[in-house]
This record gives sequence, structure tokens and C-alpha cells, in this order.
Amino acid sequence: MIVCNTVDALQKQILIEKSKGKSIGFVPSMGALHLGHISLVNEAQKQCDIIVVSIFVNPTQFNNPDDLLKYPRTLEADIQMLDNSACSIIFAPSVDEIYPANLETINLDLGTLKNVMEDALRPGHFNGVVNVVYRLFDIVKPSKAFFGLKDFQQVAVIKYMTKHFNLAIEIVACPTIREITGLAMSSRNLRLSDKQKKDALIIIQTLRYSKELSKELTPMDVRLKARSFFNTSELTLEYIEIVDPLTLVSLDENWVEGATMCIAAFCGEVRLIDNLQLF
Ligand code: PAF
Repeated sequence: MIVCNTVDALQKQILIEKSKGKSIGFVPSMGALHLGHISLVNEAQKQCDIIVVSIFVNPTQFNNPDDLLKYPRTLEADIQMLDNSACSIIFAPSVDEIYPANLETINLDLGTLKNVMEDALRPGHFNGVVNVVYRLFDIVKPSKAFFGLKDFQQVAVIKYMTKHFNLAIEIVACPTIREITGLAMSSRNLRLSDKQKKDALIIIQTLRYSKELSKELTPMDVRLKARSFFNTSELTLEYIEIVDPLTLVSLDENWVEGATMCIAAFCGEVRLIDNLQLF
């Protein structure tokens, strides 16, 4: 496994592999790696020859400076974890490598994906994601890129961006990996105490119970019931939505194929998100 810190060094390696006819699979990450990331690497290994994993805590997608400051940075442990995986090349650039002074910023209108859920609560977040992923795609030029469905809206945004710019990159959405308790794996879980990890289970319990309720109730009624579960919980609910998986338009009366419930809630100071396909 090779670690590259500059665009030049990475592109030299990728050129060597491409000249041998190898396909490139790409797993973008912000580090603090866990088994969820490794599952993306494993899926990439099934579909591609050479796996590139980027580790870059992207400042432009944090709308809360405190969140950026507290984001876990565990590069040594990440490198070790990837060394025991199918990863071939780690790309761990500096901020200046990703954002050189002359780089043009993208301002993509996200259509129905904007002003809902994460975008409504974290203004500018997806603009940062779009810019960094577009830049990383441009540097790595993979044939396929792998993203976890835990970040449901992010996957929708990246698919939208890829289509908008007509990029020849297949976006592969991979299932959320959970602790045995059901808690969705996330780099942010490192900031939860044992008690908070238990409190946070209300999220997956609500999602699973809502899936049962969806057999009998309308999306609006499922959402109302789901919200009420949080009344007595330790978590502070930010939103519960049931959305069309492509447009992210909120569903009220009728179910559509792939309808997904998305939840965001604060557990202490830690903001958690999760989702489950209900229908
Ligand atoms: O999901 C993440 O870790 C980040 O949003 C991503 C896609 C690596 C962009 O910084």
C-alpha cells in the first residue's frame, strides 16, 4: 500500500496502474475510519482492480466551526486499518493541495434536493461536499466511486452532481453498517459515552418500528408516531422525514417504491443521522 500526500504523486501512481489496464475504484473519506469504511473498500475490491481511499477532513462542508475542530483525526490508525484491507493507495492531501488558489468554485443548484433535511439545517454543507467530491473525482478519475447509504442525502446529491456534469463515474451506494446493537457506524460515535450509545438506539428502534407501521399507516401518520417516540428520549430530535428516494420530496398520503425514513438528532453535543427504507 502506498500513501500519497500530493496530487502529483497520486496521479503518477494512478497513471502507472491505468497503463497496465487496471480499473480504479475510489472511496472518499474524512478519516476516523471504521468498519463502515472498510465495507466500502471491500465492495470496491469486488468491482475494481486498484482501490484508492482519500482521507481529507474537508473544511468547506462544516457549517459549524466547532464541529470541524472536534472532528476526530486519527491518521496513523487509519493508515494501519487500510494496510490490513484491500486498499492499494491512500491519498491524504493538505488543504492547499485540494484547494489551490486558482481553483474555481462550483455553485450547483440541487433542485428538489436542496432546502430539505441536511441542507435545511446545515446551510452550505452540500456545496462543500459537491466541491470536494468534484475535485477529488477530477484528481483520481475513478471508474467507480463508493459511498455509504448512511449519508442518504449525500448519496442523492453526489448522484445528481455526477449526472449534471455528465461524469463517466458510476456511483455505487453501499448499505449502512451497524454495531451489533443496531447503532449505525459513524466516525462521530467516537465522541459518544457508553450511556449515550445506549440512548442513541432510539433512532434505529424508531426506524424499525416505523417499517412495521408503514404496512398499515400513511407516511404522514407514521411520521407523527415516530416523532412522538422522541418525546421521552434523551435525544433532541432535529427532523424525521419520509422521502421519495430520488427527489427527496416528503411523502404524506401515498407510499412510493423505496420510500425512506431519515432521522437527525442530537445525542448530547453529537449530531447523529440514520435512515431506513420503509417501503
Ligand atoms: O462522507 C464523507 O465522509 C464526506 O462527506 C466525503 C464524501 C468524503 C466528502 O468530504
